[in-house]
Amino acid sequence: MTDSLLSIRGLSVEFKTELGLVRALSEVSFEVPRNSVTAVVGESGSGKSVTSNAILRLLPDTAQSSGEIELNPQDGEPVIITSLDERDPQMQNLRGGLVSMVFQEPMTALSPVHRIGDQVAEAVLCHRDVSPDVAWAEAAAMLEQVGLADAESKMRMFPFEFSGGMRQRVVIAMALICHPQLLICDEPTTALDVTIQAEILVLIKSLQRKLNNSVLFITHDLGVVAQIADRVVVMYNGQVMEIGSVRQVLKNPQHPYTMHLLSSMPGAATDFREKNKNWSDGAAIGAGTFLVEADAGRKIREFRELSP
Ligand SMILES: Nc1ncnc2c1ncn2[C@@H]1O[C@H](COP(=O)(O)OP(=O)(O)OP(=O)(O)O)[C@@H](O)[C@H]1O
Ligand SMILES: [Mg+2]
Repeated sequence: MTDSLLSIRGLSVEFKTELGLVRALSEVSFEVPRNSVTAVVGESGSGKSVTSNAILRLLPDTAQSSGEIELNPQDGEPVIITSLDERDPQMQNLRGGLVSMVFQEPMTALSPVHRIGDQVAEAVLCHRDVSPDVAWAEAAAMLEQVGLADAESKMRMFPFEFSGGMRQRVVIAMALICHPQLLICDEPTTALDVTIQAEILVLIKSLQRKLNNSVLFITHDLGVVAQIADRVVVMYNGQVMEIGSVRQVLKNPQHPYTMHLLSSMPGAATDFREKNKNWSDGAAIGAGTFLVEADAGRKIREFRELSP
């Protein structure tokens, strides 16, 4: 058994459009180690969502892809996801079972017309052969774990009665309830305000440690990377620019694009601006917008001050 739960090797994706082929990913390769948080960071359009959707085979029919994605479950045979047929029962087992996903906007994952408890219990019933009572009890326990106190009464409520942060907690509960080995989070906190964002990051990180799973965390924000991730993959224009531990990449970035990302963060890494000034492609990248909270800037400075 390898140390990597997921290996992406030479993944390229093109979309057929009316204007011709659009290349979204070029030869993307990286590993997601076990029991850790790997962040994929990059600006809008860099290919983060296409990469994460490819893992669950959620790309539209207009996509043509090549390369290989391999999942190495803890106690099972390796699965080459890219060679599975859509109707293969292994694919069903994979989605929401071994691998699950949390999207940016919680309402895309929740039905507005069903009670919270029924939706979370349904996620159990889809993948496991248990009675509705057991599913309901497990759903209540999971809602408590994601920080929703008095879960039994909350389960009888509808999503519209919840705040955005509470809804995202429900979605995280639904994603975790079948004990996935890989949790993919695609910008799960972007729609939330900064305080709630920080709470959800702490929740995802603490549940990852408790449940010993791996998280692939998609974000455009290096501040979020500093707060949650162990490893980071930096993407730009459908390609991987740099991969390393968060400490390495934030303290000693090797690629000019990573330096550019760091230099766009207020309060962090001012000397990267200095280093970056002779980089001729810099202007072409654009300023980028990075939601940074004060704590994230501090975290990045701490990483940079650590001795090697
Ligand atoms: N269905 C599609 N048809 C055509 N092009 C697409 C499609 N989906 C994505 N793309 C293109 O693929 C590229 C990567 O898109 P992707 O959604 O992965 O970006 P992203 O890094 O997730 O950006 P964001 O931070 O805005 O979510 C972009 O150029 C995008 O326009
Ligand atoms: Mg995206």
